[in-house]
Parts: sequence; C-alpha cells; structure tokens
Amino acid sequence: MTKKEDQKNALESLVHWLRRTPRVVVLTGAGVSQESGIPTFRGPGGWWRNFRPEELATPRAFAKDPRLVWEWYDWRRSLIRRAEPNVGHRALVELEKALPQFTLITQNVDGLHRRAGSRQVLEIHGSIWEVRCPGCGKVEEDHRVPIPIPPYCDACGGLLRPNVVWFGEDLDPRVLDAARQALVQAQVMLVIGTSAVVQPAASFALWAQAAGAKLAEINPAPTPLTQHCDLVLTGKSGEILPLLVRRFKGLGL
Ligand code: OAD
Repeated sequence: MTKKEDQKNALESLVHWLRRTPRVVVLTGAGVSQESGIPTFRGPGGWWRNFRPEELATPRAFAKDPRLVWEWYDWRRSLIRRAEPNVGHRALVELEKALPQFTLITQNVDGLHRRAGSRQVLEIHGSIWEVRCPGCGKVEEDHRVPIPIPPYCDACGGLLRPNVVWFGEDLDPRVLDAARQALVQAQVMLVIGTSAVVQPAASFALWAQAAGAKLAEINPAPTPLTQHCDLVLTGKSGEILPLLVRRFKGLGL
C-alpha cells in the first residue's frame, strides 16, 4: 500500500469510529492555530526558539520584570487579534454540531476555537484575553490592544497578570476536573497539533486510552504520543480536518 492509501484508510477508519461512537474528546495545541499565522512554541519559528520560557512564562519572571512579561503578552495579543480562525478550527465546529457528546480541550490561549464557534471548550491553559488580579482574585475579560503596561486592578489597585497558566503552576482544578471527566468517558480521542510534551495535557490521551478510548493523532510530525495511537494522520490540521468533516458527512474527498 502507498502512503497515500494508508492515509486514506486511516481517514476512513476515523470516520467509521466517529459515526459509531457518541462520546468524543479532542485535544488541541498550537499547531491548530499555526495556519492562522500564530507561531507554535517549539517548531521552526516557534516562540521558544527565540525566547526563554523562564524569562517570560513563569511566576518568577513576572515577579522580576512584569513590564517585560506584559510587553510579550501585548505583542502576542496584537498578533492574535489580527488573526482569524482557520478551516481547521471551523471543521471542529462542524464536528461538534454533528456529534452528540463532544468536548474540545485546548492548550491554546488565543480564543480562536471560541471565535470560530466551538461551544464545549475547556481552555486548560487559560485565556490571553483575560486578566487576573493576584491581590483580590478578580478575573475579567480585557481585549485592549495595546494594554496599558503594566495594567492595574480597578478594584484594589494591584498589578494585573494575564490569566494564563505559566510553567510551574497548576491548572485550575475545576477545569482539570471537567477535562478528566470527559477523558474517562471518551470513546474516541483525537489529538491535534500538539507536541505532547507539556504536562498534564501530554498525558490526557493516555488517560482516555486507559479508560477505553481509541486514540488518533493529526500532526505533520511525530510526537511522543504517536507510538501509542491506534491511528495517525500525518499532515496539517487545516488540510486533514476539512477532509474528515466531508467524509463524515458522506461527501467525496
Ligand atoms: P508546540 O509548539 O510544542 O507544538 C506544536 C505542534 O503542532 C508540533 O507537534 C507541530 O508538529 C504541530 N504543528 C505545526 N503546524 C501544524 C499544523 N498546521 N497542523 C497541525 N499540527 C501542526 O505547542 P503545544 O504542544 O501546544 O504552554 O505546546 C504546549 C504548551 O507549551 C503551550 O500551551 C504553552 C507552551 O509552553 C503554556 O503557555 C502554559
């Protein structure tokens, strides 16, 4: 069989699973937004190729230099605001509409899944469009670009931080619980556009698999999860997801 045939068979198998299984969980990472022009973290041109996470994405970095951290977030916010959801994001909206139980867990903080129209979304690393006051705990949406640097809390005057999860921080326990519940009930788990190296998200697929889910991956490059997958589709999410939706709806490739 040629590689093309392998890929076609894998796509057909995935369609078959999706038709027969009502409970589906999707985990996405930065790769899904790559075709919207937003850099990934670890690939060529990725953020962590040019910047050190310890200087920009840890509580210690923020305590040391909040201005620098906010400048980086403000720059990312300006990039993301100009970006549009891509065909991969939109295909996931279609899948959600067509499947009875669908949970989208994303590591992305850009909000593009929601902007595309996805509803059942768990943003496990938070949102770049929210600010949080570590002093009084207030969280609110903030879409200002540029944002005053550094921004201060209206309620208590404290220094605001982006409401995202940084290295060394725990996920919001309520969001993690909701993710765990979806994962242990999943019959199919689809992992898309993540290098699967950041915990706990990197283990989600294995939790779902241990609870009985079939595992599929969409990514142009192999990841540590690839060897555990029942099915692998090699390529970009913006190319493969629209094909998947077409086949799912019974249309030709
Ligand atoms: P990474 O940058 O680590 O990985 C991106 C993945 O997307 C790689 O496996 C690429 O092969 C794949 N990829 C690239 N282009 C793609 C495309 N068009 N379609 C599909 N896949 C593509 O990003 P994440 O795995 O999301 O954490 O990174 C996880 C976390 O590390 C992020 O949420 C962030 C980061 O530090 C926090 O900010 C807490």
